[in-house]
Amino acid sequence: MGILRALFSLCVVTSFLSLGPRSSLGRSHFHKGKQSSAHRVNGGHRVVESPVRSPAEPPATGASTSLDSCVFDVRSFGAVGDGSTDDTEAFRSAWRAACSVESATVLVPSDGVFILTSTIFSGPCEPGLVFQVDGVIMPPDGPDNWPESDSKHQWLVFYQLEGMTLRGEGTIEGNGEDWWNLPCKPHRGPHGSTLPGPCDSPVLIRFFVSCNLTVKDLRIENSPQFHIKFDACEDVHIEGLSISSPAFSPNTDGIHIENTRSVTIYNNMIGNGDDCISIGPGCSDVDIQNVTCGPGHGISIGSLGMHNSQACVSNVSVKNAVVRNSDNGVRIKTWQGGMGSVSGISFDNVYMENVRNCIIIDQYYCSNKGYCQNQSSAVYVSGVSYANIKGTYDVRSPPIHFACSDTLPCTNITMFEVELLPHEGELVDDPFCWNAYGAMQTATIPPIPCLQDGQPESLQEIASPDC
Ligand SMILES: *[C@@H]1O[C@H](CO)[C@@H](O)[C@H](O)[C@H]1NC(C)=O
Ligand SMILES: *[C@@H]1O[C@H](CO)[C@@H](O)[C@H](O)[C@H]1NC(C)=O
Ligand SMILES: *[C@@H]1O[C@H](CO)[C@@H](O)[C@H](O)[C@H]1NC(C)=O
Ligand SMILES: *[C@@H]1O[C@H](CO)[C@@H](O)[C@H](O)[C@H]1NC(C)=O
Ligand SMILES: *[C@@H]1O[C@H](CO)[C@@H](O)[C@H](O)[C@H]1NC(C)=O
Repeated sequence: MGILRALFSLCVVTSFLSLGPRSSLGRSHFHKGKQSSAHRVNGGHRVVESPVRSPAEPPATGASTSLDSCVFDVRSFGAVGDGSTDDTEAFRSAWRAACSVESATVLVPSDGVFILTSTIFSGPCEPGLVFQVDGVIMPPDGPDNWPESDSKHQWLVFYQLEGMTLRGEGTIEGNGEDWWNLPCKPHRGPHGSTLPGPCDSPVLIRFFVSCNLTVKDLRIENSPQFHIKFDACEDVHIEGLSISSPAFSPNTDGIHIENTRSVTIYNNMIGNGDDCISIGPGCSDVDIQNVTCGPGHGISIGSLGMHNSQACVSNVSVKNAVVRNSDNGVRIKTWQGGMGSVSGISFDNVYMENVRNCIIIDQYYCSNKGYCQNQSSAVYVSGVSYANIKGTYDVRSPPIHFACSDTLPCTNITMFEVELLPHEGELVDDPFCWNAYGAMQTATIPPIPCLQDGQPESLQEIASPDC
């Protein structure tokens, strides 16, 4: 719960510190305990040390002013953009300059391809900062070209920011192929196994401990791992992204959020080799509308409760979605042995096309097949509504699968206008339910006689999860 409390006070904390972002308080508070090498060389320290400039006094070089904003073109800071020169230092300088000016824009011009190594763009910055990518930015090509001293967990990190926008007509290209082909990755060994060897692969874009963020319009593709991840953030608005990686690219989730609340994800197109959108522990008030997913693994809440951890997810709505050629449609997955709860989830108006496991709750999730012990505690799943879920399923799996915990049933699952037909061939398995309770508000296709009506008798005994 510590992280959640820290998160909920985030905006208060950052507004307080923005009164004196260059004070020693800000410095020691935000930078203590960070040990990644990328962090040591990031621009944040230098933001702290740079002199205060007022908007009326832009730096003598590198900035052009307009009436109401200040544009910091990375080329003016020495970026080459020829697709081979390392432009990291120029981007850091442009960031430092823009960070200290209100409503500034870091501009990545449309006529360049800029190579950056792993970088943390740190705040606090003056409000209204925009990072505008109109050209192409990309990391070094694969693990062999990754600088030894750089973090292999993340590439671009935006840290400790408030009221920042990342947008543009350009592309963030991940050059992920050599990472996907590492021997450690799923299916790289014989018969779909994995082989030993280094496996860390960078998240392409990560927002960490930040609030009031907007990310829009960009093309983000071929990430080595997750495309874009938000951790310990609040008030996040994602709109109009086009995210794409091949179906065979492992662990390339499109948008991942964890410990993040108050999120809108509107009008995005996502195709990849893992979850389209994944919602991890500690998320609440998430509104997803107009997303087209596929290929990939569908929209997922989880996995939750790994290593007996507590996970709380509440108030997630997915509306007007299309899921195509995917391994799952809408999924909730939890590990045995977890604690906490998932509640207040609604999936409304989701069109499926050739999807395995269109509707699935899996409380026996186990990514290392065969090595998971049976355990009695579980993340309590309750209040999940499925309305207007239509389309076609891949007959290799039943279209509806509710595998709830032996000890803690799923409760209050409601189904309204669910109509799923085979994409090709005939239904082999009927819908599956284990310990699942709820209500059919209309008849479903196929019928789900295994969903038990009402509440389980033992519900009184369910320890109320401390979320
Ligand atoms: C959020 O940030 C935007 C700038 O990106 C700013 O205009 C807006 O006032 C901020 N909202 C809040 C609630 O701070
Ligand atoms: C659920 O989240 C939405 C935003 O997605 C918010 O407007 C609403 O107030 C939340 N509901 C509750 C009960 O917290
Ligand atoms: C979803 O798409 C519809 C149709 O294009 C559009 O009218 C609506 O504004 C979109 N919703 C959001 C939240 O952008
Ligand atoms: C877990 O329980 C299931 C069903 O009761 C059983 O089939 C399986 O063998 C058990 N697994 C272990 C590792 O005990
Ligand atoms: C059942 O879940 C719905 C949301 O799907 C919620 O509005 C309702 O309050 C829940 N009912 C109970 C008895 O928990």
